[in-house]
Amino acid sequence: MSLIDSGKRTIGEFEVGPLGFGCWRFTNEKLDVARAVLETALDLGMNLIDTADVYGFDWGGQGFGENERLLGNLIADSPNLRGRMVLATKGGITPPVPYDSGAQYLTQAVHDSLSRLAVEFVDLFMIHRPDMYTHPEEVAGTLTTLREAGKVREFGVSNFAPSQTDALQKYLDFPLVTDQMEYSLAHLDPMRDGTLDRCMREGVTPMPWSPLAGGSLATGEGLDPELVAKMDELAERENVNRATLAVAFVLAHPSRPVPLLGTQSPNRLEEQAAAVNVTLNREDVYSLFQLSDGQPLP
Ligand SMILES: NC(=O)c1ccc[n+]([C@@H]2O[C@H](COP(=O)([O-])OP(=O)(O)OC[C@H]3O[C@@H](n4cnc5c(N)ncnc54)[C@H](OP(=O)(O)O)[C@@H]3O)[C@@H](O)[C@H]2O)c1
Repeated sequence: MSLIDSGKRTIGEFEVGPLGFGCWRFTNEKLDVARAVLETALDLGMNLIDTADVYGFDWGGQGFGENERLLGNLIADSPNLRGRMVLATKGGITPPVPYDSGAQYLTQAVHDSLSRLAVEFVDLFMIHRPDMYTHPEEVAGTLTTLREAGKVREFGVSNFAPSQTDALQKYLDFPLVTDQMEYSLAHLDPMRDGTLDRCMREGVTPMPWSPLAGGSLATGEGLDPELVAKMDELAERENVNRATLAVAFVLAHPSRPVPLLGTQSPNRLEEQAAAVNVTLNREDVYSLFQLSDGQPLP
């Protein structure tokens, strides 16, 4: 039996497919090309669309807010697109860094995101990185006000330590429903630092980011050759490619995660969508885990 659950995931009041589409690299200024990528993702059941106000600031973008603006232009051009997606954005990074989750900044950030995205509200808003100099009670107050004003339906966190999420949750009288963390065959920390355990304990949906470690799990660059060989062996057995196998590894976690795919290629989206049908058993995932770790489990 496969460890992968291909069913829909619940995010508060919303249902999403087991894979999401990430807009960090969604920087193609040609609207028809951008539309084709987005529609391919939606057609493949990746209805969770994840962006952030800071996307566009780096990675080949045109500047802070520009990836949201691109998505907003597509939504404004085809209003039916909005109804096909569960729209998620993030805020709280003030480039180049620091972070600001103070009431004034965060409130303005959400309003600015809504205006760039050409929508009245977003389905999900996540604090992109924890601002260690804002008290969680203040953050909770801001999120509550945004929710009551109808600007945001559900909330989550991103790159928070479990204790930071707990501290924020303590001051909220509604649950945080998502948690974004770097998790892949090249980055196993969330399995050991309590992040994924907290998600399972609280019924929070994890959204692992960079499931291909930015592409290196597809190319094999910088990876242990033994890990690459094992990935290829399992990929061949499952009749998929190495990238799809890497996405399948992330999906196999019992927290029922929604990995955020980063490719901007419709063909690769289609290939990686097949990850939900891969069969991985305990022996498979533990071999991959140990090869990634570089040491056997005790
Ligand atoms: N919360 C956070 O702090 C945070 C941080 C980072 C990312 N994220 C989210 O996670 C999403 C995904 O992150 P990511 O873009 O780093 O994901 P990823 O899937 O790990 O990496 C995507 C990169 O891998 C390349 N790639 C994909 N398949 C390939 C293949 N078969 N062969 C060679 N290269 C391949 C893609 O290039 P092509 O486009 O050419 O295919 C793209 O450059 C982001 O869009 C964002 O929504 C969140």
